[in-house]
Amino acid sequence: MDKLKDIVIKKIQESGKITFSEYMDMALYYPELGYYQKENPFGIQGSFYTSVNASSSFGNCLGKSFEYIAGETNISNNICEIGAGSGLLANDILSYLKSHAPEYYNNCNYTIVEKSKYLIYEQKKILEDHIDKITWRGFHDLNNFDGIVFSNELVDAFPVHRIINISGAIKELFVIYYDNKLQFYPDSLSSPALKHYIDKFKINTVDKQIIDVNLHSSEWIKHLGSKLKKGFVITIDYGDTSEKLYTPNRIDGTVTCYFKHTQNNDFFERVGYQDITAFIDFSSLISYGAEADLKPITFISQWLYLLNSGILEEIKKAKTDLNRVSIQSLIIPEAGFGTNFNVLMQSKNVETPENFRYNKKADKIFEELSKTYS
Ligand SMILES: C[S@@+](CC[C@H](N)C(=O)[O-])C[C@H]1O[C@@H](n2cnc3c(N)ncnc32)[C@H](O)[C@@H]1O
Repeated sequence: MDKLKDIVIKKIQESGKITFSEYMDMALYYPELGYYQKENPFGIQGSFYTSVNASSSFGNCLGKSFEYIAGETNISNNICEIGAGSGLLANDILSYLKSHAPEYYNNCNYTIVEKSKYLIYEQKKILEDHIDKITWRGFHDLNNFDGIVFSNELVDAFPVHRIINISGAIKELFVIYYDNKLQFYPDSLSSPALKHYIDKFKINTVDKQIIDVNLHSSEWIKHLGSKLKKGFVITIDYGDTSEKLYTPNRIDGTVTCYFKHTQNNDFFERVGYQDITAFIDFSSLISYGAEADLKPITFISQWLYLLNSGILEEIKKAKTDLNRVSIQSLIIPEAGFGTNFNVLMQSKNVETPENFRYNKKADKIFEELSKTYS
């Protein structure tokens, strides 16, 4: 059970300390032993649910939105999913397109970029019906992509650095092995990029406040922008703009763990057996994306995105009460997926029409919906 923990301890003993980002990367992605490299990270047997597990309506709505976006613009029908997990979402999207938008489906190439070897193996099994539509590629092979690149709960699974304000001094929380335990140890920042990030986004902290900085996401979006020839990047995740994310009411930061559907903050327990995740900073995706010519088109709550993508029709079509409640959980604030989840849409070399659906504000949507459903 503690094989990965022993490897972490050995690494720390060699160098004295490692960043939390290095620790998180090992805990989640270490070959064969990291959380995402082994059986059952998702669903009932795993540690957490994503919107994908709640209902296939999530994939149906995304499929519908992709068809709409391609129809309204001059991009090709290609879709690229980064971090496809179990493959269930790709299956829901492709099944929806096959039965509801066959023309789109026939001209669609679906690319998956996935870091976990184990999950690629699982994806190939679940996606058997659509296998001739799908290519698995490395992130660096996405040259000249034309179409929609999207991710759901990918960026929250990128490793983060933990920064703390100690009586006004900005320190990084490293991981050390001391007193027979893995524990945090504050020291000077491991990289000037962290100081640059804090200055760039004007992040002010109070004494003892921890902030979690996802440097990986900045590099990721810049790279994506450089690879996209024409199209959209759609990022769905929990998080907020830096201004709203890094506030004293989140004094302990946002990194947390999930083990068998229970949240905990025992970061150094069950190494490789529990998920570790952090809220994402959408400001960084917007700002670093712009450096790579990605223009922010819209930043809205997930529930609003889904309302614009046919979720009410999905609710109406639900065959059982259980199905209906599951679909509703995607948009009801108290249910989890309605709060904190946001959608950022960025585009490159595409004009969006004036009445582009995803530019609409909530009041306008409600006005239209009340006409449709009255
Ligand atoms: C939290 S899971 C989300 C899975 C799925 N999108 C869903 O909503 O159920 C994160 C996924 O991203 C993958 N991942 C993490 N970092 C990645 C990277 N740099 N490139 C590609 N996939 C990555 C993980 O292996 C895992 O499949």
